[in-house]
Amino acid sequence: MNVYDSDRMADVMAQHGFGLVETPECADMVILNTCHIREKAAEKVYSELGRLALLKGAREQVGGQMILAVAGCVAQAEGKEILNRAPYVDIVFGPQSYHRLPEMVARACSVSKNARNSIKILDTDFPVEPKFDYLPDVREGAKGFDRKSNGSMAFLTVQEGCDKFCTFCVVPYTRGAEYSRPTNDVMDEANNLAALGVREIILLGQNVNNYKGLAVGKKNSSEVWSLGRLIKELASIKGIERIRYTTSYPADIDEELIEAHRDVPALMPYLHLPMQSGSDSILKAMNRRHSADDYLRLVERLRKARPDLGLSSDFIVGFPGETNTDFLNTLDIVREIGFVQAYSFKYSPRPGTPAALLSDQVPDTVKAERLSCLQEILNSQQKAFNKSCVGRTLNVLLDRPGKIPGQLVGRSPYMQAVHVDGSGLDTGTFVNLKITEGHAYSLAGEIGKGALA
Ligand code: 5AD
Ligand code: SF4
Repeated sequence: MNVYDSDRMADVMAQHGFGLVETPECADMVILNTCHIREKAAEKVYSELGRLALLKGAREQVGGQMILAVAGCVAQAEGKEILNRAPYVDIVFGPQSYHRLPEMVARACSVSKNARNSIKILDTDFPVEPKFDYLPDVREGAKGFDRKSNGSMAFLTVQEGCDKFCTFCVVPYTRGAEYSRPTNDVMDEANNLAALGVREIILLGQNVNNYKGLAVGKKNSSEVWSLGRLIKELASIKGIERIRYTTSYPADIDEELIEAHRDVPALMPYLHLPMQSGSDSILKAMNRRHSADDYLRLVERLRKARPDLGLSSDFIVGFPGETNTDFLNTLDIVREIGFVQAYSFKYSPRPGTPAALLSDQVPDTVKAERLSCLQEILNSQQKAFNKSCVGRTLNVLLDRPGKIPGQLVGRSPYMQAVHVDGSGLDTGTFVNLKITEGHAYSLAGEIGKGALA
Protein backbone atom coordinates (compact mmCIF):
# COMPACT_ATOMS: atom_id res chain seq x y z
CA MET A 1 0.00 0.00 0.00
CA ASN A 2 2.93 2.34 0.62
CA VAL A 3 4.01 1.85 -3.01
CA TYR A 4 0.52 2.83 -4.13
CA ASP A 5 0.47 5.82 -1.75
CA SER A 6 3.90 6.97 -2.96
CA ASP A 7 2.70 6.85 -6.56
CA ARG A 8 -0.36 8.91 -5.65
CA MET A 9 1.86 11.47 -3.88
CA ALA A 10 3.85 11.69 -7.12
CA ASP A 11 0.56 12.23 -9.00
CA VAL A 12 -0.44 15.04 -6.62
CA MET A 13 2.93 16.77 -6.81
CA ALA A 14 3.14 16.36 -10.60
CA GLN A 15 0.31 18.90 -10.79
CA HIS A 16 2.60 21.36 -9.03
CA GLY A 17 5.62 20.91 -11.24
CA PHE A 18 7.42 18.17 -9.31
CA GLY A 19 8.78 15.16 -11.17
CA LEU A 20 10.52 12.02 -10.00
CA VAL A 21 14.32 11.82 -9.93
CA GLU A 22 16.51 8.76 -9.68
CA THR A 23 18.56 9.64 -6.59
CA PRO A 24 17.95 11.81 -3.51
CA GLU A 25 21.14 13.83 -4.24
CA CYS A 26 19.37 15.69 -7.02
CA ALA A 27 16.00 16.14 -5.30
CA ASP A 28 14.42 19.44 -4.21
CA MET A 29 12.21 17.40 -1.96
CA VAL A 30 12.57 13.93 -0.44
CA ILE A 31 9.60 12.11 1.03
CA LEU A 32 10.29 9.03 3.14
CA ASN A 33 7.17 6.90 3.11
CA THR A 34 7.41 4.76 6.21
CA CYS A 35 6.13 1.53 7.75
CA HIS A 36 5.44 1.00 11.45
CA ILE A 37 4.38 -2.64 11.39
CA ARG A 38 7.50 -4.02 13.07
CA GLU A 39 10.21 -2.30 15.09
CA LYS A 40 12.88 -3.00 12.48
CA ALA A 41 10.96 -1.12 9.78
CA ALA A 42 10.30 1.84 12.09
CA GLU A 43 13.93 2.10 13.26
CA LYS A 44 15.16 2.16 9.66
CA VAL A 45 13.47 5.53 9.29
CA TYR A 46 15.86 7.24 11.68
CA SER A 47 19.00 5.82 10.10
CA GLU A 48 17.70 6.81 6.67
CA LEU A 49 16.89 10.32 7.95
CA GLY A 50 20.45 10.66 9.25
CA ARG A 51 21.78 9.96 5.75
CA LEU A 52 19.34 12.41 4.17
CA ALA A 53 20.29 15.13 6.68
CA LEU A 54 23.83 15.07 5.26
CA LEU A 55 22.53 15.46 1.71
CA LYS A 56 20.24 18.27 2.77
CA GLY A 57 23.13 20.04 4.53
CA ALA A 58 25.39 19.68 1.47
CA ARG A 59 22.69 21.09 -0.79
CA GLU A 60 22.02 24.06 1.48
CA GLN A 61 25.73 24.84 1.67
CA VAL A 62 25.78 25.51 -2.05
CA GLY A 63 22.67 27.69 -1.82
CA GLY A 64 20.16 24.97 -2.67
CA GLN A 65 17.17 23.63 -0.81
CA MET A 66 15.88 20.21 0.10
CA ILE A 67 12.48 19.85 1.72
CA LEU A 68 12.54 16.72 3.86
CA ALA A 69 9.21 15.06 4.57
CA VAL A 70 8.25 11.92 6.46
CA ALA A 71 5.02 10.23 5.43
CA GLY A 72 3.22 7.00 6.30
CA CYS A 73 2.56 5.11 9.48
CA VAL A 74 5.72 6.01 11.43
CA ALA A 75 4.81 9.65 10.80
CA GLN A 76 1.30 8.94 12.04
CA ALA A 77 2.43 7.14 15.18
CA GLU A 78 5.57 9.10 16.11
CA GLY A 79 5.07 12.50 14.49
CA LYS A 80 6.30 14.63 17.38
CA GLU A 81 9.13 12.25 18.20
CA ILE A 82 10.39 12.49 14.61
CA LEU A 83 10.50 16.26 14.83
CA ASN A 84 12.39 16.02 18.13
CA ARG A 85 14.85 13.34 17.06
CA ALA A 86 15.37 14.71 13.55
CA PRO A 87 14.91 18.50 13.77
CA TYR A 88 16.01 18.95 10.14
CA VAL A 89 12.75 17.31 8.97
CA ASP A 90 10.36 19.94 7.57
CA ILE A 91 7.08 18.08 7.13
CA VAL A 92 5.54 15.08 8.87
CA PHE A 93 2.22 13.75 7.63
CA GLY A 94 0.14 10.60 8.08
CA PRO A 95 -1.33 8.28 5.44
CA GLN A 96 -4.68 10.06 5.47
CA SER A 97 -3.34 13.55 4.72
CA TYR A 98 -1.27 13.26 1.56
CA HIS A 99 -3.88 14.97 -0.60
CA ARG A 100 -2.91 18.10 1.37
CA LEU A 101 0.74 17.73 0.41
CA PRO A 102 0.89 20.68 -2.05
CA GLU A 103 -0.36 23.03 0.62
CA MET A 104 2.16 21.69 3.15
CA VAL A 105 5.02 21.98 0.65
CA ALA A 106 4.03 25.54 -0.23
CA ARG A 107 4.06 26.42 3.47
CA ALA A 108 7.45 24.78 4.00
CA CYS A 109 8.90 26.59 0.97
CA SER A 110 7.63 29.95 2.18
CA VAL A 111 9.39 29.62 5.54
CA SER A 112 12.66 31.50 5.43
CA LYS A 113 15.83 29.44 5.84
CA ASN A 114 16.57 30.88 9.27
CA ALA A 115 13.12 30.13 10.61
CA ARG A 116 13.00 26.63 9.19
CA ASN A 117 14.30 24.90 12.29
CA SER A 118 11.59 26.41 14.44
CA ILE A 119 8.61 26.08 12.09
CA LYS A 120 7.54 22.54 11.37
CA ILE A 121 4.49 21.14 9.65
CA LEU A 122 2.76 18.20 11.32
CA ASP A 123 -0.42 16.77 9.83
CA THR A 124 -1.49 13.48 11.37
CA ASP A 125 -5.25 14.07 11.60
CA PHE A 126 -7.78 11.61 10.35
CA PRO A 127 -9.63 14.14 8.19
CA VAL A 128 -13.36 13.87 7.67
CA GLU A 129 -13.00 14.22 3.92
CA PRO A 130 -11.67 11.02 2.33
CA LYS A 131 -8.39 11.84 0.59
CA PHE A 132 -9.42 9.90 -2.52
CA ASP A 133 -11.95 12.65 -3.35
CA TYR A 134 -9.07 15.12 -3.63
CA LEU A 135 -6.54 13.10 -5.57
CA PRO A 136 -5.97 13.52 -9.29
CA ASP A 137 -6.50 10.64 -11.71
CA VAL A 138 -3.73 8.06 -11.89
CA ARG A 139 -1.08 9.09 -14.38
CA GLU A 140 1.30 7.59 -16.84
CA GLY A 141 4.34 8.34 -14.68
CA ALA A 142 3.04 6.67 -11.56
CA LYS A 143 1.25 3.50 -12.41
CA GLY A 144 3.56 0.54 -11.97
CA PHE A 145 3.81 -1.53 -8.82
CA ASP A 146 7.49 -1.15 -9.07
CA ARG A 147 9.58 1.24 -11.02
CA LYS A 148 11.52 -1.42 -12.87
CA SER A 149 8.37 -2.75 -14.48
CA ASN A 150 6.88 -1.36 -17.64
CA GLY A 151 3.61 -0.66 -15.90
CA SER A 152 1.58 -3.62 -17.10
CA MET A 153 0.72 -4.36 -13.46
CA ALA A 154 -0.63 -1.81 -11.00
CA PHE A 155 -1.92 -1.57 -7.47
CA LEU A 156 -5.34 -0.10 -6.80
CA THR A 157 -6.36 0.72 -3.22
CA VAL A 158 -10.05 -0.08 -2.71
CA GLN A 159 -10.19 -0.23 1.07
CA GLU A 160 -8.15 1.25 3.88
CA GLY A 161 -7.89 0.97 7.61
CA CYS A 162 -8.85 -1.83 9.92
CA ASP A 163 -11.39 -2.43 12.71
CA LYS A 164 -10.13 -5.86 13.68
CA PHE A 165 -7.65 -4.89 16.40
CA CYS A 166 -5.46 -7.96 16.39
CA THR A 167 -3.62 -7.51 19.67
CA PHE A 168 -0.15 -7.40 18.04
CA CYS A 169 -0.95 -4.90 15.31
CA VAL A 170 -0.55 -1.13 14.96
CA VAL A 171 -2.60 -0.79 11.76
CA PRO A 172 -5.96 0.14 13.38
CA TYR A 173 -4.15 2.99 15.16
CA THR A 174 -2.04 4.25 12.25
CA ARG A 175 -4.41 3.72 9.32
CA GLY A 176 -7.64 4.35 11.21
CA ALA A 177 -11.09 2.85 10.80
CA GLU A 178 -12.12 0.73 7.83
CA TYR A 179 -13.18 2.70 4.80
CA SER A 180 -14.18 1.38 1.38
CA ARG A 181 -13.92 3.56 -1.69
CA PRO A 182 -17.20 3.94 -3.60
CA THR A 183 -17.50 1.54 -6.52
CA ASN A 184 -17.59 4.31 -9.15
CA ASP A 185 -14.21 5.62 -7.99
CA VAL A 186 -12.69 2.18 -8.17
CA MET A 187 -14.19 1.41 -11.58
CA ASP A 188 -13.01 4.79 -12.94
CA GLU A 189 -9.49 4.25 -11.66
CA ALA A 190 -9.41 0.73 -13.13
CA ASN A 191 -10.64 2.07 -16.48
CA ASN A 192 -7.90 4.72 -16.41
CA LEU A 193 -5.28 2.09 -15.62
CA ALA A 194 -6.52 -0.11 -18.47
CA ALA A 195 -6.29 2.87 -20.83
CA LEU A 196 -2.68 3.39 -19.68
CA GLY A 197 -1.84 -0.18 -20.70
CA VAL A 198 -2.23 -1.94 -17.36
CA ARG A 199 -3.23 -5.59 -17.79
CA GLU A 200 -3.11 -6.80 -14.21
CA ILE A 201 -4.46 -5.05 -11.14
CA ILE A 202 -3.86 -5.90 -7.53
CA LEU A 203 -6.68 -4.64 -5.33
CA LEU A 204 -5.38 -3.39 -2.01
CA GLY A 205 -6.77 -3.00 1.45
CA GLN A 206 -5.62 -3.86 4.96
CA ASN A 207 -8.77 -5.93 5.15
CA VAL A 208 -9.66 -5.96 1.48
CA ASN A 209 -12.12 -8.84 1.59
CA ASN A 210 -14.33 -6.82 3.91
CA TYR A 211 -14.76 -4.31 1.06
CA LYS A 212 -18.21 -2.76 1.18
CA GLY A 213 -18.36 -0.19 -1.59
CA LEU A 214 -21.32 2.10 -2.06
CA ALA A 215 -22.67 1.82 -5.60
CA VAL A 216 -25.00 4.63 -6.61
CA GLY A 217 -27.29 3.61 -9.46
CA LYS A 218 -28.79 5.69 -12.28
CA LYS A 219 -31.91 6.73 -10.38
CA ASN A 220 -29.90 7.52 -7.28
CA SER A 221 -30.73 4.09 -5.93
CA SER A 222 -27.83 2.67 -3.99
CA GLU A 223 -26.51 -0.74 -3.10
CA VAL A 224 -23.37 -2.09 -1.50
CA TRP A 225 -20.93 -4.24 -3.45
CA SER A 226 -18.83 -6.86 -1.75
CA LEU A 227 -15.34 -7.64 -3.00
CA GLY A 228 -16.68 -10.63 -4.95
CA ARG A 229 -19.12 -8.38 -6.81
CA LEU A 230 -16.46 -5.75 -7.43
CA ILE A 231 -14.12 -8.36 -8.90
CA LYS A 232 -16.84 -9.58 -11.25
CA GLU A 233 -17.44 -6.02 -12.48
CA LEU A 234 -13.73 -5.22 -12.84
CA ALA A 235 -13.25 -8.37 -14.91
CA SER A 236 -15.58 -6.88 -17.52
CA ILE A 237 -13.22 -3.93 -18.20
CA LYS A 238 -11.54 -4.37 -21.56
CA GLY A 239 -7.80 -4.75 -21.11
CA ILE A 240 -7.90 -5.93 -17.48
CA GLU A 241 -7.01 -9.57 -17.85
CA ARG A 242 -5.74 -10.39 -14.40
CA ILE A 243 -7.06 -9.46 -10.97
CA ARG A 244 -5.61 -10.18 -7.53
CA TYR A 245 -6.40 -8.84 -4.09
CA THR A 246 -4.50 -8.51 -0.83
CA THR A 247 -4.63 -8.70 2.20
CA SER A 248 -7.46 -10.85 3.46
CA TYR A 249 -8.83 -11.57 6.90
CA PRO A 250 -9.91 -15.23 6.97
CA ALA A 251 -13.09 -14.70 9.00
CA ASP A 252 -14.38 -12.15 6.46
CA ILE A 253 -14.20 -14.31 3.32
CA ASP A 254 -17.80 -14.65 2.18
CA GLU A 255 -19.59 -16.92 -0.27
CA GLU A 256 -19.66 -14.30 -3.03
CA LEU A 257 -15.88 -14.06 -2.95
CA ILE A 258 -15.48 -17.83 -3.05
CA GLU A 259 -17.86 -17.86 -6.03
CA ALA A 260 -15.70 -15.23 -7.74
CA HIS A 261 -12.75 -17.62 -7.40
CA ARG A 262 -14.89 -20.26 -9.11
CA ASP A 263 -16.49 -18.08 -11.79
CA VAL A 264 -14.08 -15.30 -12.75
CA PRO A 265 -11.19 -16.57 -14.88
CA ALA A 266 -9.37 -13.22 -14.54
CA LEU A 267 -9.15 -13.73 -10.77
CA MET A 268 -5.77 -15.40 -10.44
CA PRO A 269 -5.51 -18.76 -8.67
CA TYR A 270 -3.33 -17.34 -5.92
CA LEU A 271 -4.45 -16.05 -2.54
CA HIS A 272 -2.57 -14.42 0.31
CA LEU A 273 -4.48 -15.43 3.42
CA PRO A 274 -2.66 -14.63 6.67
CA MET A 275 -3.04 -17.35 9.30
CA GLN A 276 -0.57 -15.92 11.89
CA SER A 277 -0.58 -19.07 14.07
CA GLY A 278 -1.83 -22.65 14.08
CA SER A 279 -2.58 -22.65 17.80
CA ASP A 280 -6.12 -21.89 18.93
CA SER A 281 -5.07 -20.37 22.24
CA ILE A 282 -2.58 -18.06 20.50
CA LEU A 283 -5.12 -17.13 17.83
CA LYS A 284 -7.53 -16.24 20.63
CA ALA A 285 -4.89 -14.16 22.42
CA MET A 286 -4.22 -12.45 19.08
CA ASN A 287 -7.98 -11.69 18.77
CA ARG A 288 -7.98 -13.28 15.32
CA ARG A 289 -11.61 -14.54 15.34
CA HIS A 290 -10.72 -17.77 13.55
CA SER A 291 -9.49 -21.10 14.87
CA ALA A 292 -6.98 -23.34 13.14
CA ASP A 293 -9.85 -25.56 12.12
CA ASP A 294 -11.85 -22.60 10.70
CA TYR A 295 -8.83 -21.81 8.55
CA LEU A 296 -8.59 -25.40 7.32
CA ARG A 297 -12.31 -25.51 6.46
CA LEU A 298 -12.02 -22.21 4.62
CA VAL A 299 -9.10 -23.51 2.58
CA GLU A 300 -11.19 -26.59 1.72
CA ARG A 301 -14.04 -24.39 0.44
CA LEU A 302 -11.67 -22.22 -1.57
CA ARG A 303 -9.91 -25.21 -3.09
CA LYS A 304 -13.25 -26.76 -3.98
CA ALA A 305 -14.15 -23.58 -5.85
CA ARG A 306 -10.72 -23.26 -7.47
CA PRO A 307 -8.79 -26.55 -7.31
CA ASP A 308 -5.56 -25.03 -8.66
CA LEU A 309 -5.48 -22.30 -5.97
CA GLY A 310 -1.99 -21.54 -4.61
CA LEU A 311 -1.98 -20.24 -1.04
CA SER A 312 0.32 -17.76 0.61
CA SER A 313 0.23 -16.65 4.24
CA ASP A 314 1.72 -14.59 7.08
CA PHE A 315 2.95 -16.13 10.33
CA ILE A 316 4.14 -14.63 13.59
CA VAL A 317 6.32 -16.74 15.86
CA GLY A 318 7.00 -16.00 19.52
CA PHE A 319 3.77 -14.16 20.28
CA PRO A 320 3.62 -13.66 24.09
CA GLY A 321 2.77 -16.93 25.82
CA GLU A 322 3.52 -19.10 22.78
CA THR A 323 4.65 -22.49 24.07
CA ASN A 324 6.58 -25.08 22.15
CA THR A 325 3.33 -27.03 21.72
CA ASP A 326 1.62 -23.95 20.26
CA PHE A 327 4.48 -23.57 17.83
CA LEU A 328 4.37 -27.25 16.85
CA ASN A 329 0.66 -26.79 16.08
CA THR A 330 1.66 -24.06 13.61
CA LEU A 331 4.16 -26.40 11.95
CA ASP A 332 1.52 -29.14 11.73
CA ILE A 333 -1.04 -26.98 9.97
CA VAL A 334 1.61 -25.57 7.62
CA ARG A 335 2.52 -29.12 6.64
CA GLU A 336 -1.11 -30.05 6.25
CA ILE A 337 -2.05 -27.12 3.99
CA GLY A 338 1.09 -26.60 1.92
CA PHE A 339 1.84 -23.02 0.88
CA VAL A 340 3.27 -21.89 -2.44
CA GLN A 341 5.04 -19.09 -0.56
CA ALA A 342 4.69 -17.27 2.77
CA TYR A 343 6.02 -14.49 4.97
CA SER A 344 7.01 -15.16 8.56
CA PHE A 345 8.14 -12.84 11.32
CA LYS A 346 9.36 -12.81 14.87
CA TYR A 347 6.76 -11.14 17.08
CA SER A 348 7.73 -7.50 17.54
CA PRO A 349 6.13 -5.66 20.48
CA ARG A 350 4.57 -2.46 19.18
CA PRO A 351 3.90 0.56 21.40
CA GLY A 352 0.22 1.03 22.21
CA THR A 353 -0.87 -2.49 21.27
CA PRO A 354 -2.33 -4.81 23.96
CA ALA A 355 0.10 -7.69 23.30
CA ALA A 356 3.10 -5.48 24.03
CA LEU A 357 1.87 -5.23 27.64
CA LEU A 358 1.60 -8.99 28.20
CA SER A 359 4.05 -10.30 30.78
CA ASP A 360 4.96 -13.63 29.17
CA GLN A 361 7.10 -12.29 26.32
CA VAL A 362 9.13 -14.95 24.50
CA PRO A 363 12.94 -14.55 24.56
CA ASP A 364 14.50 -13.47 21.29
CA THR A 365 16.66 -16.60 21.02
CA VAL A 366 13.53 -18.78 21.12
CA LYS A 367 11.83 -16.57 18.53
CA ALA A 368 14.86 -16.83 16.27
CA GLU A 369 14.98 -20.63 16.56
CA ARG A 370 11.27 -20.98 15.83
CA LEU A 371 11.48 -18.60 12.90
CA SER A 372 14.30 -20.49 11.23
CA CYS A 373 12.50 -23.81 11.80
CA LEU A 374 9.26 -22.48 10.26
CA GLN A 375 11.08 -20.82 7.38
CA GLU A 376 12.87 -24.03 6.55
CA ILE A 377 9.52 -25.75 6.02
CA LEU A 378 7.97 -22.81 4.16
CA ASN A 379 11.01 -22.47 1.89
CA SER A 380 10.99 -26.15 1.08
CA GLN A 381 7.27 -25.97 0.26
CA GLN A 382 7.90 -23.03 -2.04
CA LYS A 383 10.76 -24.80 -3.77
CA ALA A 384 8.72 -28.00 -4.15
CA PHE A 385 5.89 -26.00 -5.71
CA ASN A 386 8.27 -24.25 -8.09
CA LYS A 387 9.78 -27.59 -9.08
CA SER A 388 6.31 -29.06 -9.63
CA CYS A 389 5.77 -26.38 -12.28
CA VAL A 390 8.55 -27.77 -14.48
CA GLY A 391 7.04 -29.27 -17.61
CA ARG A 392 3.80 -27.27 -17.22
CA THR A 393 2.83 -24.44 -19.54
CA LEU A 394 2.10 -21.26 -17.59
CA ASN A 395 0.66 -18.00 -18.80
CA VAL A 396 3.15 -15.22 -18.05
CA LEU A 397 2.70 -11.46 -18.17
CA LEU A 398 6.10 -10.13 -19.25
CA ASP A 399 6.84 -6.88 -17.50
CA ARG A 400 10.55 -6.09 -17.37
CA PRO A 401 13.97 -6.78 -18.83
CA GLY A 402 16.00 -9.34 -16.90
CA LYS A 403 19.58 -8.98 -15.62
CA ILE A 404 21.03 -10.93 -18.56
CA PRO A 405 20.95 -9.01 -21.86
CA GLY A 406 18.04 -10.14 -24.03
CA GLN A 407 16.24 -11.74 -21.10
CA LEU A 408 12.70 -10.77 -20.03
CA VAL A 409 10.97 -11.41 -16.71
CA GLY A 410 7.29 -11.80 -16.04
CA ARG A 411 4.85 -13.17 -13.49
CA SER A 412 3.01 -16.47 -13.56
CA PRO A 413 -0.58 -16.75 -12.30
CA TYR A 414 0.97 -17.75 -8.94
CA MET A 415 3.12 -14.58 -8.75
CA GLN A 416 6.30 -16.51 -9.47
CA ALA A 417 8.95 -14.55 -11.36
CA VAL A 418 9.57 -16.33 -14.67
CA HIS A 419 12.71 -15.67 -16.77
CA VAL A 420 12.72 -16.22 -20.51
CA ASP A 421 14.93 -15.47 -23.50
CA GLY A 422 13.08 -12.45 -24.79
CA SER A 423 13.96 -12.51 -28.50
CA GLY A 424 10.86 -11.60 -30.44
CA LEU A 425 8.86 -10.89 -27.28
CA ASP A 426 7.63 -7.60 -25.83
CA THR A 427 7.06 -6.45 -22.28
CA GLY A 428 3.43 -5.78 -21.49
CA THR A 429 2.28 -8.91 -23.30
CA PHE A 430 1.12 -12.33 -22.19
CA VAL A 431 2.93 -15.41 -23.34
CA ASN A 432 2.47 -19.12 -22.63
CA LEU A 433 5.78 -20.51 -21.46
CA LYS A 434 6.86 -24.09 -21.04
CA ILE A 435 8.55 -24.14 -17.63
CA THR A 436 12.02 -25.63 -17.82
CA GLU A 437 13.53 -24.80 -14.41
CA GLY A 438 12.10 -24.38 -10.91
CA HIS A 439 14.31 -22.62 -8.36
CA ALA A 440 13.81 -21.50 -4.77
CA TYR A 441 12.31 -18.12 -5.73
CA SER A 442 11.83 -18.13 -9.49
CA LEU A 443 11.19 -20.15 -12.63
CA ALA A 444 12.70 -20.25 -16.10
CA GLY A 445 10.64 -20.97 -19.18
CA GLU A 446 10.89 -21.18 -22.91
CA ILE A 447 8.61 -20.30 -25.68
CA GLY A 448 7.29 -23.23 -27.65
CA LYS A 449 5.20 -23.48 -30.81
CA GLY A 450 1.96 -21.52 -30.60
CA ALA A 451 3.04 -20.07 -27.30
CA LEU A 452 1.88 -16.49 -27.85
CA ALA A 453 -1.14 -16.07 -25.62
N1 5AD B 1 5.15 -8.37 15.01
C1 5AD B 1 5.46 -9.23 14.01
N2 5AD B 1 4.75 -9.31 12.87
C2 5AD B 1 3.68 -8.50 12.74
N3 5AD B 1 2.78 -8.36 11.75
C3 5AD B 1 1.92 -7.40 12.09
N4 5AD B 1 2.22 -6.91 13.30
C4 5AD B 1 3.31 -7.58 13.73
C5 5AD B 1 4.10 -7.54 14.92
N5 5AD B 1 3.80 -6.71 15.92
C6 5AD B 1 2.79 -9.19 10.56
C7 5AD B 1 1.50 -10.02 10.46
C8 5AD B 1 0.77 -9.33 9.34
C9 5AD B 1 1.90 -8.82 8.48
C10 5AD B 1 1.56 -7.75 7.54
O1 5AD B 1 2.85 -8.37 9.42
O2 5AD B 1 1.85 -11.34 10.10
O3 5AD B 1 -0.11 -10.20 8.65
FE1 SF4 C 1 -3.55 -5.72 11.67
FE2 SF4 C 1 -4.51 -7.27 9.69
FE3 SF4 C 1 -5.26 -7.68 12.27
FE4 SF4 C 1 -6.11 -5.51 10.94
S1 SF4 C 1 -6.61 -7.67 10.44
S2 SF4 C 1 -5.36 -5.56 13.05
S3 SF4 C 1 -4.34 -5.01 9.68
S4 SF4 C 1 -3.19 -7.93 11.37
